[in-house]
Amino acid sequence: MAEANFRDIGIVDVEFGDRVNVVRPVNLYGCRIGDDSFIGPFVEIQRNATIGKRTRVQSHCFICELVTIGDDCFIGHGVMFINDWFDTGKPAFNQPELWAETIIGNTVSIGSNATILPVHICDHVVVGAGSVVTRDITEPGIYHGSPAKLVRTLDPETETANLNFSRRLRQQ
Ligand SMILES: CC(C)(COP(=O)(O)OP(=O)(O)OC[C@H]1O[C@@H](n2cnc3c(N)ncnc32)[C@H](O)[C@@H]1OP(=O)(O)O)[C@@H](O)C(=O)NCCC(=O)NCCS
Repeated sequence: MAEANFRDIGIVDVEFGDRVNVVRPVNLYGCRIGDDSFIGPFVEIQRNATIGKRTRVQSHCFICELVTIGDDCFIGHGVMFINDWFDTGKPAFNQPELWAETIIGNTVSIGSNATILPVHICDHVVVGAGSVVTRDITEPGIYHGSPAKLVRTLDPETETANLNFSRRLRQQ
């Protein structure tokens, strides 16, 4: 029987801000994680990815190279980021010139199991659980579905009240 090669996950060359909490095991390498952020277990964050301040990355997320996430964000469990559109009909292994960036603004909450293709998302956005974001999001609001569409705009000043509004109505 052939011998397999084994490599261990770990935390290598990570630039941590102050008071960062990480729940191991994780695979973090060459990335930056801002002050007061939280990284849950079974998360992989690749080189040159950046996580802002006070951002929570929940368990089982994959954050790949060329992803930048802002401050005060919530990345739900099992959120997957993507940097390769398979533009040539196959994965662009070792061809970083074909990879595309993802920029997530501040105060963005992404629901569990969402998939984020290489897009830009502005500040004050909520992405519903299980959504697939295929286009840039340029207006604050709640987006869900596959492909994710705007279902409701959000006023950044009152977004908490807005977010709970429909649920409160349903519970009456
Ligand atoms: C999208 C979300 C923020 C709610 O947005 P909302 O506009 O207040 O939505 P509502 O609850 O009023 O539902 C509106 C409609 O969208 C549907 N809907 C709600 N969330 C949805 C989702 N993630 N994907 C697809 N449809 C969704 C509802 O079923 C409802 O459909 P209906 O009108 O046919 O009944 C919420 O459902 C969600 O997905 N939150 C993410 C929670 C999460 O992942 N947390 C992680 C930590 S545990």
